[in-house]
Amino acid sequence: MKRRDLLKLAGLLSFASATYAFGYDKKLVKNTNDMKVKDPTHPTDFEYKHLPEIKIGDKDKKGYSLVEVSIGQHGIIHPSTAKHWIYEIDLYVDGKEVSKVSLEPIESRGYLASRVKLDGVKEISATSRCTLHGNYTYSMKV
Ligand SMILES: [Fe+2]
Repeated sequence: MKRRDLLKLAGLLSFASATYAFGYDKKLVKNTNDMKVKDPTHPTDFEYKHLPEIKIGDKDKKGYSLVEVSIGQHGIIHPSTAKHWIYEIDLYVDGKEVSKVSLEPIESRGYLASRVKLDGVKEISATSRCTLHGNYTYSMKV
């Protein structure tokens, strides 16, 4: 490639990165604290709204189980508005992060699906990250 072509390409890449912004605006994340449910035997509706709900589905031919995480338990769904939404969900198997999703406000809401090997696994957990209310983790025995 000639020097002139390289300069053209560099100019195009610079234009593209300045023109297209990928990912949500990080300045909208106001709370990154790890939150605790005050009474785990009786979470409030506010806490249910932030807690991940984990569902384990079928196992494929390679031994990977479908794991779905939806944010909000007991039918209380977390909102997804311009300044208040679940911007990330992390999935852990026996404490090891195995999947992560980054979400845009309005067009998407708190949901993650992943295929995971669960043979011998004892615990699966997920963390939801709300822009305003912090991080909520839910764990379940497998
Ligand atoms: Fe929230």
